[in-house]
Amino acid sequence: MNHSIVEKNIGLMVVLVVGMISFGGLVQIVPLFFQEETTQPIDGLEPWTALQLEGRDIYIREGCNTCHSQMIRPLRGETERYGHYSVAGESVYEYPFLWGSKRTGPDLARVGGKYSDEWHRAHMYNPRDVVPQSNMPAFPWLFENELTGEHTARKLEVLQGFGVPYTDEQIANARSEVEGKKEIDALVAYLQGLGLVLSERR
Ligand code: HEC
Repeated sequence: MNHSIVEKNIGLMVVLVVGMISFGGLVQIVPLFFQEETTQPIDGLEPWTALQLEGRDIYIREGCNTCHSQMIRPLRGETERYGHYSVAGESVYEYPFLWGSKRTGPDLARVGGKYSDEWHRAHMYNPRDVVPQSNMPAFPWLFENELTGEHTARKLEVLQGFGVPYTDEQIANARSEVEGKKEIDALVAYLQGLGLVLSERR
């Protein structure tokens, strides 16, 4: 009886459908805010150093995340290739996270330690020099641009406000840690730190 009222009243139907979907969504999402597994850092997780943090911002600026994901799914084919699948507790210091699903290139969640710094530098300067069949773009300007460190301390402070456990000392030293370094140094430091905590290469 009541059902026919809903079926004949499109406005009511829309309201009820939206209500139902919202409820279903909340039931799935809200508990995650309170589970340790998704809110607490895994053992051994460290915040990015000032230099790595600048590297991460360069990674975003250059759009590396439009071709590379940072999320290894818990499937055999992925873990054989990339290593331990990604867990939420690895990402608690990431603002914004860079998980993604677009993989023109390989996943980079655990690329830290896979290659030498020199390999990364050569690869960034011209990917074809080390991987002849590569279609990744070259990033030669990273070897020229210098970091001023002007905003580095502020970046750490903002992250500290989000709960990333930076010490006041780290914030005070942030500028001097990056000032005068080349952008490539920051990017390679970041890449070499990716996914180490659960990596076999640690
Ligand atoms: C247009 C897509 C594209 C963009 C943008 C891109 N890459 Fe790549 N990347 C690739 C492809 C394809 C490969 C595989 C071939 C190779 O190794 O060069 C790759 C490989 C890599 C590898 C080696 C991964 C491994 O496990 O062998 C690293 C590291 C890497 N990219 C980092 C970066 C960084 C850092 C940036 C941004 C500065 C970037 N990529 C931007 C497509 C891209």
